[in-house]
Amino acid sequence: MTRSPNPVTGVHYKPRDLSDRFALGFTKVLRGFADLCFAKRYGHRAVVLETVAAVPGMVGATLTHLRCLRSMVPDHGWIRTLMEEAENERMHLMTFIEVTTPTLFERMLIMVVQWLFYAGFFLIYLTSSKTAHRIVGYFEEEAVVSYTHYLAEIDEGRVPNPPAPRIAREYWELPVDATLRDVVLVVRADEAHHRDVNHEFASIRAGLPSNPDQTAPYPAHGTTA
Ligand SMILES: [Fe+2]
Ligand SMILES: [Fe+2]
Repeated sequence: MTRSPNPVTGVHYKPRDLSDRFALGFTKVLRGFADLCFAKRYGHRAVVLETVAAVPGMVGATLTHLRCLRSMVPDHGWIRTLMEEAENERMHLMTFIEVTTPTLFERMLIMVVQWLFYAGFFLIYLTSSKTAHRIVGYFEEEAVVSYTHYLAEIDEGRVPNPPAPRIAREYWELPVDATLRDVVLVVRADEAHHRDVNHEFASIRAGLPSNPDQTAPYPAHGTTA
């Protein structure tokens, strides 16, 4: 009997063409860079990477908006969805900044990476919005893996589990006794949602059928996340 994969953690979009393989390769290179910078410092990793994660939705919304104006076509709700993704990612950042204080090096890294990533992602989206959405789909797969490892660190007592920041309790409507673990769980669910939406958008752009039958259990990762 085959068990269906966990809809949050067990989903991986199998690359189907050159653009998908580029998107996956690009994601793996950036993940390697993140591993090098942060290893298991998950709070710092979350703060720095959420400053990057909040960029694609706004780029996608802007360029989709401009394309709709140029071509005089409806957006079918894409612009709102992408702007909501950007806002949701910014709330992840506002939450984790209450948990961890970035170092001076990390603040400098954030500024440099923002310029490079904004310009690079803008060009990729202009060239191929399908590839751009596939990249975000793979980024979000990695985000789910990283937050799963963050949860394991909390559960095994290597990372403290303080009360959830107030901003997080209000945003996700968590109970007053919610903890960091509860926050990581809801953030991970958000990342899984972005993953599915972006893979779906990439498939729509490529004229492919819907995603569910193209997913497979996520490949096992090493100890670094
Ligand atoms: Fe996020
Ligand atoms: Fe995300």
